[in-house]
Amino acid sequence: MRTSSKPESPPDPQVVSRRSFLALGIAAIGGFIGAALGIPLAGYAVSPALQQRKQEWSAVGPISDFSVGQPKKVEYSAFKKDGWIEETVTKPAWVIARENGEITVFDPRCTHLGCAYRWDDGRKLFLCPCHDAVFDIDGKVVSGPPPRPLDRLEARVQDGKLMVMGG
Ligand code: FES
Repeated sequence: MRTSSKPESPPDPQVVSRRSFLALGIAAIGGFIGAALGIPLAGYAVSPALQQRKQEWSAVGPISDFSVGQPKKVEYSAFKKDGWIEETVTKPAWVIARENGEITVFDPRCTHLGCAYRWDDGRKLFLCPCHDAVFDIDGKVVSGPPPRPLDRLEARVQDGKLMVMGG
């Protein structure tokens, strides 16, 4: 007697596709919920670090403090926001009042490697001690290795006070 065994039938393609569909649907919902929660949280955590540095105008002092043609080193308080960090720092600068009423404010760092330079009143030149750079009163390189003139800070006069941007 011959027994006929029915060969196993392949899985019902409709059942498999229904399971796959459910799995896909659950994964999609999970992904959507994850994105809905994760993206704003990630943005909240990272956005301050991606923001540009924020600087503001800082008061240096009364414009009457500066004599025409006589560079003067000053220190002022500057607000700085860099990502999460907000601070007020003391900054130096060189200020020169010009005959035409304009004011020039130089960053106090040498444009070679950042050393602090000084004004030589006898020679009427700025001198950097690190590698013997020499700049004239307009910040142009007279001699030495600096690749460019002294950096200028944005400046304006407001209510009789010299204001500088950042620094
Ligand atoms: S840092 Fe001023 S000359 Fe080098």
